[in-house]
Amino acid sequence: MAAIESVLQEQRVFAPPQALVAQAKISGMPAYEALCAEADKDYEGFWARQARENLAWHKPFTRVLDETNAPFYTWFEDGQLNASYNCLDRQIEAGLGDKNAILFEADDGTVTAVTYRDLLARVSRFANALKAKGVKKGDRVVIYMPMSVEGVVAMQACARIGATHSVVFGGFSAKSLNERVIDAGAVVVVTADEQMRGGKALPLKAIVDEALAMGGCEHVKSVIVYRRTGGNVTMQAGRDEVLQDLVAGQSDQCEPEWVGAEHPLFILYTSGSTGKPKGVQHSTGGYLLWASLTMQWTFDIKPDDVFWCTADIGWITGHTYIAYGPLAVGATQIVFEGVPTYPNAGRFWEMIARHKVSVFYTAPTAIRSLIKAAEQTPAVHPKQYDLSSLRILGSVGEPINPEAWMWYYENVGGGRCPIVDTWWQTETGGHVITPLPGATPLVPGSCTLGLPGVAVAIVDETGQDVPNGQGGMLVIKRPWPSMIRTIWGDPERYKSSYFPSELGGKIYLAGDGSIRDIKTGYFTIMGRIDDVLNVSGHRMGTMEIESALVANPIVAEAAVVGRPDDTTGEAIVAFVVLKRSRPTGDEAKQLALELRNWVGKEIGPIAKPKDIRFGDNLPKTRSGKIMRRLLRVIAKGEEITQDTSTLENPAILEQLKQAQ
Ligand code: WTA
Repeated sequence: MAAIESVLQEQRVFAPPQALVAQAKISGMPAYEALCAEADKDYEGFWARQARENLAWHKPFTRVLDETNAPFYTWFEDGQLNASYNCLDRQIEAGLGDKNAILFEADDGTVTAVTYRDLLARVSRFANALKAKGVKKGDRVVIYMPMSVEGVVAMQACARIGATHSVVFGGFSAKSLNERVIDAGAVVVVTADEQMRGGKALPLKAIVDEALAMGGCEHVKSVIVYRRTGGNVTMQAGRDEVLQDLVAGQSDQCEPEWVGAEHPLFILYTSGSTGKPKGVQHSTGGYLLWASLTMQWTFDIKPDDVFWCTADIGWITGHTYIAYGPLAVGATQIVFEGVPTYPNAGRFWEMIARHKVSVFYTAPTAIRSLIKAAEQTPAVHPKQYDLSSLRILGSVGEPINPEAWMWYYENVGGGRCPIVDTWWQTETGGHVITPLPGATPLVPGSCTLGLPGVAVAIVDETGQDVPNGQGGMLVIKRPWPSMIRTIWGDPERYKSSYFPSELGGKIYLAGDGSIRDIKTGYFTIMGRIDDVLNVSGHRMGTMEIESALVANPIVAEAAVVGRPDDTTGEAIVAFVVLKRSRPTGDEAKQLALELRNWVGKEIGPIAKPKDIRFGDNLPKTRSGKIMRRLLRVIAKGEEITQDTSTLENPAILEQLKQAQ
């Protein structure tokens, strides 16, 4: 490890700025290495120290890690705490009551500041309102909300009373929402009348109504509706109530419910390689520790920082780095309702200047689309804005290509700001592999090294470590505090998805391919090794989309693959066989449009295939297996060089090559 600086001198490497190193929480590579060594020497002792120093415990834990029921690991199990207490009361007790917790910028640019004291009062009122609705510790609450202060308040309020929230991204369809409400067994749904995005009002409550009317949701006793736009909605008497009316009569004091460290803080659904989304269950203690620690380690958060994570609270990034992490460390953060391109593609840069954002965390897809916009319209180029407040930049959700990295580094960061390319997943709870801004020399396109105390490695199919320079499967060899605890209601699937018996049943399989640099050991992520696509940083299962397509009465068969895309990382391509004869020309165009909208209704607009091609059949082996690797080649528009002699129907390839 000591060799990293010298080896990297030969490559295109960006050392952290001295000023940043001098005051960083982890200052210089030796400090990073010392933490790694401490964790190596006494793994449990290391994590116990972090948990004691970074969280306020109502009842201290005496046990650290329990591996007896692997892979159902527990951390700090006999300790008790409350996540909302740690995020709010603790800050006020430390004298931060008048500090801004949230600067909310609405779609139309209106800014609302919420101090820690205000936020606690709002969370307490909402928590009391939930209690008045009969919500108890352990009950599940589905949150289907726009980006808003109220969305964060709803999550924190659940945490305050020990209810387990499950946030569903506002872009999911009624059907997806219905499935998640049923799987979670929710007793309450929190939503808004509409959401404002890019100057347009989009319905939310109407989708909730549709979802609940689909059946199976009898356990939902109340729907709480935040009046965002005042748009027209139907309110069902006895079930639906306006949030503003509900909280008005509630006390702004609510005693936190102390829960065990393993108490499920939330369930968040994510796509896997089979059709049904997985309800990833997270703990309270281990998860919150990670949220707090990575704010300090990865973002080196300081009292005067203005932090902005552009993710939506419907995804894990919005959970850990909006709803919990920034508050757990007493930071000021921006919460943004709108989209990066409204009123123009300079919105992000304008907001950084307006709020003097110092730590900015976004996704490669956003960067790539803003590069295009800046090339087309010089007025929205980041150079037109005062971005001098920035000190650290972050990237998340998908691989960032070196070109986009360089543009981000030079044009947004002015060559002064380290980029933390953070690799992690819904299941990991927070960052796992990432540069540290005051320590790690950066190489564009590499997420560099694992955090101290996380045993990341690359193995082959038999679980053997592969040497540096050789690709393999990314794994985490020891349990870590913020890891997924189980798949809600499906412990067997948890075991088979993440702890395959071929690897011994105890090692966490991430589902990504990776390779380490021969000399430095730096990790580069090579994308998913399963049937999961990453479109604009959104995880999507190919089988999920295939199931949606074949649910349409005109579709006989469908196969979905990914194709590299300059802006969205990957794009969805669907090969479809209809029950009727193969359409061509205008009819094919019309049917492709219908099927795209159909998928939008079944799953959500983010799952709409970019390209749909119709065939008389799909390329299959003689035993009837669809040859997806050939479809991937066709989707890319490349020539097929592989052996096709095992194909039952080789002529089909020519047909599928023709775009509609
Ligand atoms: C991908 C998002 C490369 C990866 C936090 C992972 C990345 C999946 C990176 C998880 C990165 C995330 N570089 N790939 N820095 N970060 N990924 O659950 O394939 O929505 O498995 O969590 O995104 O997506 P998820």
